[in-house]
Amino acid sequence: MTKLELEDIQGYIIRGYAHMMYSRFVYLQITDAAAAKKWLSKSWEDMTTAVHFHDRSKISDTHLNIAFTHLGLESLGLYQENLDAFSREFRQGMVSPHRSRLLGDVESSAPKHWKWGNNSDDSKDSEKTNESKHLNKPIHLCLMIFGNDKKTVDNLEKDKIVCLNYYEKLKAEFAESGLKEIYFIDGQTQPDNKEHFGFRDGISQPIIEGSGRVGSKDDVVKAGEFLFGYENEFGVYPDTPLIIKDQGDQNLLAQDAGGSGLKDLGRNGSFLVMRQLEQDVDKFWSYLNEKSKNPDGSLNKEESLKLGARIMGRWQSGAPITLFPDKDPGHTSDINDFGYSKFDPDGLKCPFGSHLRRTNPRDSVDDHGVKESLKLSKQHRIIRRARLYGEIFEGSPTNKKPKGEVGLLFACFNADISRQFEFLQYTWGKLPKVKELYNDPDPIIGVKEKPDEGEEQNFTIQDLPVNRTIHDLPRVITVKGGAYFFFPSISTLRYLATV
Ligand code: HEM
Repeated sequence: MTKLELEDIQGYIIRGYAHMMYSRFVYLQITDAAAAKKWLSKSWEDMTTAVHFHDRSKISDTHLNIAFTHLGLESLGLYQENLDAFSREFRQGMVSPHRSRLLGDVESSAPKHWKWGNNSDDSKDSEKTNESKHLNKPIHLCLMIFGNDKKTVDNLEKDKIVCLNYYEKLKAEFAESGLKEIYFIDGQTQPDNKEHFGFRDGISQPIIEGSGRVGSKDDVVKAGEFLFGYENEFGVYPDTPLIIKDQGDQNLLAQDAGGSGLKDLGRNGSFLVMRQLEQDVDKFWSYLNEKSKNPDGSLNKEESLKLGARIMGRWQSGAPITLFPDKDPGHTSDINDFGYSKFDPDGLKCPFGSHLRRTNPRDSVDDHGVKESLKLSKQHRIIRRARLYGEIFEGSPTNKKPKGEVGLLFACFNADISRQFEFLQYTWGKLPKVKELYNDPDPIIGVKEKPDEGEEQNFTIQDLPVNRTIHDLPRVITVKGGAYFFFPSISTLRYLATV
């Protein structure tokens, strides 16, 4: 049985810090490598680990984690040979033209419009706004700061004060630590975990084998899908960055579990994908209201909510429509122990094209049997750590207009960005062919802003005697920033201070 080295793993990947309702993600540049390494040689001790305290009084009221971009590791002085040992998608980053095409980051979602993460630093680009010209400097690292006021659990305002006080303390040392702040974004959670469209989120998560968490065996996934240095779902060790050219104090690093005889920079670390996804709540609910209105044109709230649930795969309460196909049972639901093959093989309850079923088809992948499907699904899972940004707003058929920009600061952990996050976004999310569907992208993450000439973007609801098609899906998400990060272990952080 796998046993994770929890004290060497940064906590966010395992623990999620759900009780810490307020967080700030600070994107920084390294301006002085020597000063930054000196800072790192002390600050690794402040990083929160995955060791779980059951006694709440022992839990610190602030948590801190750190992640680096490829450019960040280069800025610290890692040799080229060692930088080259990272996987291609991490080396290229999220904004290469190829990756933008793959991820659908075009038109308003193109990196040139982003607020952060577009590394071009090209102030001649006339399409950039003044704001983005200033902000789109290359990002080297992200500090993740979380706060919780233990006296008032579930109080966002109090948590915010704790978080921002900690941020001010850290910020006071940025300049002398060779760090320059480029941008920050605040991420919040709600006690019921609803995102801005009004649906409960973050329910279905894989359980990392050996993490101590318990749940359905179908959700238990080999640690190597998320952490380097452990076997993955294929029974091999994930492609981990190794030290190819001698550098720094390698005594701090473990030997490559894969048996190469080299030291492993990746062990107990992961890749963190972050994307700032603006949500157009008004467009989302206006579309649903229009497509479900009464014959006389008036709002049919019940039908609108039902269509929303079919698009998402869960009711707003979180209850899966596979088990509750007709009506939202109402109370907050965490139910996740279900498959599609037994309860809904023909998609008559939860459409094949729903966001939930596309991003994790569970035991029902195309024509593969149950066992094979579960195996395949487990090879494409991610650990989601999304937080809300903007004013807290709960969308519904009658509540559609938040005051300012709102969205999801999407974040996920995976050991293989290409096979996990990118596969979900591109293959399962964007490609129109799933089961017998032909013109159906994922209605939340796969819709194009401007479909090609003659291209349709529909949502098919499997029904008897014939399917129903909802036409002209609008794109309700705009990408506003993003980057691929390496989320190192505590040992690797100590090592990086010595390179
Ligand atoms: C603003 C954008 C998004 C919204 C509003 C959204 C919303 C949701 C909601 C409400 C759920 C159901 C809750 C749950 O099962 O935990 C869900 C599940 C999920 N989403 Fe998203 N999501 C967004 C973006 C993404 C992206 C970019 C990906 C990956 C590329 C993704 C992957 C998933 C996965 C894997 C699940 C769980 C499916 C399962 O295991 O059954 N989502 N999402």
